[in-house]
Amino acid sequence: MKTEFDIAVLPGDGIGPEVIQEALKILKIIESKLGLKINISEAPVGGAAYEATGHPLPEASLETARNADAVLLGAVGGPQWESIDFSLRPERALLGLRSSMGLYANLRPARIFPALVDASTLKREVVEGLDLLVVRELTGGIYFGQPRGVDTLEDGTRRGFNTLVYTEPEIERIARIAFDVARKRNKSVCSVDKANVLESTGFWREVVTGLHSDYSDVELSHMYVDNCAMQLVRNPKQFDVILTTNMFGDILSDEASMLTGSIGMLPSASLGEKHAMYEPIHGSAPDITGQELANPLATILSVGMMFKYSLDHEEPNAWIESAVESVLGQGVRTADIMSDGMRQVGTKEMGDLIAEELEKG
Ligand code: IPM
Ligand code: MG
Repeated sequence: MKTEFDIAVLPGDGIGPEVIQEALKILKIIESKLGLKINISEAPVGGAAYEATGHPLPEASLETARNADAVLLGAVGGPQWESIDFSLRPERALLGLRSSMGLYANLRPARIFPALVDASTLKREVVEGLDLLVVRELTGGIYFGQPRGVDTLEDGTRRGFNTLVYTEPEIERIARIAFDVARKRNKSVCSVDKANVLESTGFWREVVTGLHSDYSDVELSHMYVDNCAMQLVRNPKQFDVILTTNMFGDILSDEASMLTGSIGMLPSASLGEKHAMYEPIHGSAPDITGQELANPLATILSVGMMFKYSLDHEEPNAWIESAVESVLGQGVRTADIMSDGMRQVGTKEMGDLIAEELEKG
C-alpha cells in the first residue's frame, strides 16, 4: 500500500487561508497516526494569485495541482476583484482547475450532526437524521457551454447569453457515479432537471433513464428542479442521492447546506479520472475574514473525504466525523452555528479542539 502522498494546498482568498490552516493541523495528525509521509506543496490561486502574477490560475499553480495525488482548496474571490474582466476573476481559477483536471463529478454530502439539529432554521423533525448527497456535474452545462458572452445586435440592443448543453457521454459518466455511490448508500437516486422546459435536460432525463437498466438494484426517480428546491425544505429526508446538472447542483447544494445548520459545515470532493480536489462548499466570506469567525469544519471534513477517495484510507473520514460530533456535543460552536447556552470559539480554537479529540482517539 502506498504510504507517501503529494498534496497540493491552494488556500486562495478571504477565509480560505484561515480554514486551510486548521485543516492542515488535522492532516498532520492523521499523517502521523497512519505512519504516512505527506508532502505539501502550497500554491496561490484566485485573487491572491491575480495580485501576485496577474492571473488567477498561474500555470505553475495548475502544474502543482496536476502533479499532486490530491488538491485541497480553501476558497476564492472577493469584492476587490468584482470589476475586473471575467477571464481574470478569482472564480476562473476554480473553474479552470475543474475543467483542466477533468473534475466532472462533484460530491456534496449534507449530513446533520446530531448536536446541530437545533442549529437548523428548520424544525427538528424535518432535519433530524438527514443524510443526503448531491452529485453535481461539474465540467459541463451552462457553466462551460458555448457560445457565451455579451454582444450588441444590429439595432444596437445589447444582450447577454450562455448555452446549456450536455453530450450523452457527459451525462452518462456523472449518472454512473451517482448510481455507484447510491449502491453504497440507500440505493436511491433522484435525478433533477427541468425537462418540462429545457430540451437539454429532457435529454438528460432520457439518458439517465436509459442507463438505469445497468443499475436495476438502485431506485431511480426524476424531479423538476423547482419542485426539488421546495421538497428540500418540506421533506429533505426523502432524498438519498440527488443527481443533477452543474448549475442546479450549485444552487441545490447551497440550499441543502442550510438543512445542516450552516454552509460552514459542508465538505466536497470533485473527482475526475486522474485527479481529485477537496474543498468546503462555502465561499471566501470577505465580510468575516481575519476575525476568527470562520467555521473550519467544512474544510476539516473535506480532509476526511480526501483520505477516503484519494489516499486509499477509509478510517480518517470516520475519525474526523466522530471528532467533530464529539466537540459539537461538548457545546462548542463557531459563530455561524452559535446558539443559546453554547460556548463560542474562534476558527483556531475549533481546529485545536478537533485536533485534540483526534489525538485522543
Ligand atoms: C461553488 C461555487 C462556485 C460555483 C463559484 C465560486 C464559481 O459557488 O463551488 O459552488 O459556482 O461552482
Ligand atoms: Mg456554489
